[in-house]
Amino acid sequence: MDATPHFALYAERRARVAARLAPGGIAVVPTAPERPRNRDSDFLYRHDSYFYYLTGFTEPNAWLVITAEGHSTLFCQPKDMEREIWDGIRLGPQAAPATLGVDEAYAVDELDRRLPRLLENRSAVWFPFATHEGLEVRVEGWLRQVRARVRFGALCPQTQHDLCGVLDEMRLIKDAHELAVMRRASQISARAHIRAMQKSAAMLRAGQDVREYHLDAELLHEFRQHGSQYPAYGSIVAAGANACVLHYRADAAPIRDGELVLIDAGCELDGYASDITRTFPANGRFTGPQRALYDLVLASQDAAVTATRPGMRFVDPHDATVAVLAQGLLDLGLLDRNKVGNAQDVIASRAYFAFYMHRTGHWLGMDVHDCGSYVEPSELGTVNERRDPLSGETIRDRPSRILQAGMVLTIEPGLYVRPAEGVPSEFWNIGIRIEDDAVVTPDGCELITRDVPVKADEIEALMRG
Ligand code: GLY
Ligand code: MN
Ligand code: MN
Repeated sequence: MDATPHFALYAERRARVAARLAPGGIAVVPTAPERPRNRDSDFLYRHDSYFYYLTGFTEPNAWLVITAEGHSTLFCQPKDMEREIWDGIRLGPQAAPATLGVDEAYAVDELDRRLPRLLENRSAVWFPFATHEGLEVRVEGWLRQVRARVRFGALCPQTQHDLCGVLDEMRLIKDAHELAVMRRASQISARAHIRAMQKSAAMLRAGQDVREYHLDAELLHEFRQHGSQYPAYGSIVAAGANACVLHYRADAAPIRDGELVLIDAGCELDGYASDITRTFPANGRFTGPQRALYDLVLASQDAAVTATRPGMRFVDPHDATVAVLAQGLLDLGLLDRNKVGNAQDVIASRAYFAFYMHRTGHWLGMDVHDCGSYVEPSELGTVNERRDPLSGETIRDRPSRILQAGMVLTIEPGLYVRPAEGVPSEFWNIGIRIEDDAVVTPDGCELITRDVPVKADEIEALMRG
């Protein structure tokens, strides 16, 4: 991950943050800590997304400070021959300004000594609230040191602000560089899904014992083969009934002829996530009931895609999905008209919830469930109270976010059928989700994950090959 080519990009983002700190504010942004896994082994390191957004820098133990005047200071690991032999090359503070475009840089050991001086005479301090354990305490410690100097004329910041609000809004609208990386990540993930589908059919045809982890291995192979650093989240490879467990992980269950496999997996590339789900017949041929449910989920996704365009609200693709699913569940006999009424009744009572219990999407970006408010900022004051028909809890609805070009969201309807009285048994234990990543464009949306087929016939054709 070389930050040099996008030098100006990060400087421009820092300048936009600086403009929001005026007058007289200062912002402090740490990267993520290294996290121990067991004994002396750490989890694979992943930088903090906010920090990376403003620096393009992926080393641990680093902090960024930005002033309202646009001055940026980086604190990073000092050069250290001994440590670099064990852990790898460090950029070091001396090279940081030329490489990253920050105005100055110091060794991170100087942070606690320099921060009180940097905070002195500032009106307000901004930092990400409730995202870094211990950060609030650390800032307070620095402020205490500033306060100790007020009798020497120092002014102490009077207010603290959450920097997440500023950064979340910036990150919600992706720029051309971000979209290019996300397209590439999506292409790699699409190839990985194709590889896993083909492997499943080929192994079954050869009479081999196929396990969920075999397909997980195919995903990882394709991710790494094309330069992805790691999966963007824990890959789900769920055989048969396991697909009805929403947060199932790739495990060791056998993948059997005649069952469906649900794979929800996407790579992370240069700090950006992709998020794809496909559900396919393990042997390459849908059965009648599988196909009927699959086509229903796909039709509901089509409706959601049509509702994903500027001016529509974030909730509209979900509502479009639910309308199609409600009607389909009645038509296929999974819901009994005599008990639940027509499609509008099913929507009002949320009777569909037994089979579709999650939302149709989320923002996507550096984090798979990316930051950004789901409430329209210009309508924050409008609140509608209602009682939830299932839990009886009071829900306060605020107007859903209006979609704009440059936002990226997933569109991921599903149906999950557990064995239950009154549900036709041919549908039992079928779990289907279809998930694509959509960039909102000026006149609609672009699905950037469609290099992997989604129509049932196309999936069957692919798996025959
Ligand atoms: N893979 C996480 C999600 O679909 O939300
Ligand atoms: Mn998703
Ligand atoms: Mn997903």
